[in-house]
Amino acid sequence: MLATLYARALDARAARPLLGDTAAVEVVGRIEYDFRRTGIDERTAAGVALRARLLDDWTAEFLARTGEATVLHLACGLDTRAQRTAFGPGVRWVDVDLPEVVALRERLLAPPPGDYRLVAASVTEEAWSAEVPADRPVVAVFEGLSMYLTEDEARGLVRRVTGRFGSGELLFDVYGSLGIRLQKLVPAVRRAGATLHWGLDDPAVVESWHPGLRCVDALRSVEMPGVDRLPPGARLPLRVMARLPGIRDVGRMMRYRF
Ligand SMILES: C[S@@+](CC[C@H](N)C(=O)[O-])C[C@H]1O[C@@H](n2cnc3c(N)ncnc32)[C@H](O)[C@@H]1O
Repeated sequence: MLATLYARALDARAARPLLGDTAAVEVVGRIEYDFRRTGIDERTAAGVALRARLLDDWTAEFLARTGEATVLHLACGLDTRAQRTAFGPGVRWVDVDLPEVVALRERLLAPPPGDYRLVAASVTEEAWSAEVPADRPVVAVFEGLSMYLTEDEARGLVRRVTGRFGSGELLFDVYGSLGIRLQKLVPAVRRAGATLHWGLDDPAVVESWHPGLRCVDALRSVEMPGVDRLPPGARLPLRVMARLPGIRDVGRMMRYRF
């Protein structure tokens, strides 16, 4: 959570930001911590910024299409997506993360204007979703979460959202199974002492979890829109990876509709 926050702050401080999340710079400034310990540098920061930008764009597209909607921003961490997205009066925005993270977030970030609530819960539990009215289409966006769940937990989460809401989209990033096997090569994962579990290779697996759920995008992370704007040190390895079958599917950006 600190790694991705720092990545967005580094991007905002770059000469040509990809995301331009200046609020992340302010939040980093309020935390006394040596952020270089996260293992994030300018190169990896640019990749995190692109990923966040794509999910911002997909969220905004959904809201533009539906008008009235509920946004479930799951595992929000210290991400300012709610602050970055200009959402209108017909939108209910719900940020969810674990209680310790929510307590920290409340100290560091002012809530955005509008119909906004911050919920302290594990997404693997049942109760939080029952408290969100199911009166509108839903967009559930979860960035940097799926790989921390087991497949059973991911399936439970997908079924909880698709079972409660009549229609909507799920927007999230995944590791492929090779990415899970190579997780210790990712500095931010290694430095955090984290363990990743679930990897997705075939988008149809998630489709099979709910009737009517279909994959509308499965973009390789190495081919995300905007990779051509990355600094050469970040762009060139991605170009090479994009040519290697197997390796190029280490991570993907998923958009499902139901
Ligand atoms: C890598 S961070 C990503 C945070 C944020 N989405 C971002 O991009 O900066 C992973 C986040 O998932 C949250 N998380 C992990 N397991 C969770 C769970 N079971 N329920 C809710 N949040 C969870 C963590 O607390 C953390 O904020």
